[in-house]
Amino acid sequence: PLVTTEQMLLRAQAGGYAVGAFNVENMEMVMAVMEAAEELKSPVIMQTTPSTVKYAGLDYFLANVRAAAQRASVPIAMHLDHGDSFALAMQALRTGYTSIMIDGSHESFEENIRLTKSVADACAPSGISVEAELGKVGGKEDDLDGGDGGYTDPMQAKEFAKKTGITSLAVAIGTAHGVYKGEPKLDLDRLSEIREVVSIPLVLHGTSGVPDETVADCVRRGICKVNYATDLRIAFTKGVTGFLKEQPDAIDPKKYNKAGKEMVKEYVKSKIKVVKSEGKA
Ligand code: 13P
Ligand code: ZN
Ligand code: NA
Repeated sequence: PLVTTEQMLLRAQAGGYAVGAFNVENMEMVMAVMEAAEELKSPVIMQTTPSTVKYAGLDYFLANVRAAAQRASVPIAMHLDHGDSFALAMQALRTGYTSIMIDGSHESFEENIRLTKSVADACAPSGISVEAELGKVGGKEDDLDGGDGGYTDPMQAKEFAKKTGITSLAVAIGTAHGVYKGEPKLDLDRLSEIREVVSIPLVLHGTSGVPDETVADCVRRGICKVNYATDLRIAFTKGVTGFLKEQPDAIDPKKYNKAGKEMVKEYVKSKIKVVKSEGKA
């Protein structure tokens, strides 16, 4: 079934695990994430960024995820990732997304609060969960350039959560979108400090390329949602190119897309184990 993320993440918080949030960009990626979650009896979140939404429209992606959720026995949520305006957040709400991120992290603290609160207020009557971000996750998220650094301040995070009424908070502790050049260095003590003063579920962005042990440590310290995007793109593309290298004359998209799908499915299964949501559906 298609569900919202608030209860899903609160349950994860109480149970000491996290839910994987996987960026999907086509039907096969949706199928892959659903099958991985179903096989491991895990709750799961699928999400799309504004540039993915621009490619085909909110309705197209939601229709795919809804079909997957109707077939699934596990809870599945459909989330707008890095929503970049009030208007897009409202479109996602009206279309039927069950969870929405409004990313005002590029604004001033005051403007981030104002924008985030306006979205949280609009979503509250329908019970749709709202994630926001404070501080800056590095790297490039599609065409949104995060710039560098600007870690989340724990006391600001506390004030931000209280004033906005959000249901989850994305923290900046040294992760970055995209592929890391070296090993990422995370400020894990900062994460623990944030968790001490902020009670709502915390979200980790930029997780592709973060070592599994480090992700597990973040989950122990209070991360309840873990985002993976770049590695799913890489996995899908590897599957397709590998297939076409073996069979350069293949013309049936079902054949090579299936190879991409299988690679994504294996990746998602491995990450469901890392965040410890296996068997939690
Ligand atoms: P990656 O680019 O590291 O996969 O980050 C994913 C993410 O944070 C999506 O919002
Ligand atoms: Zn992100
Ligand atoms: Na990353």
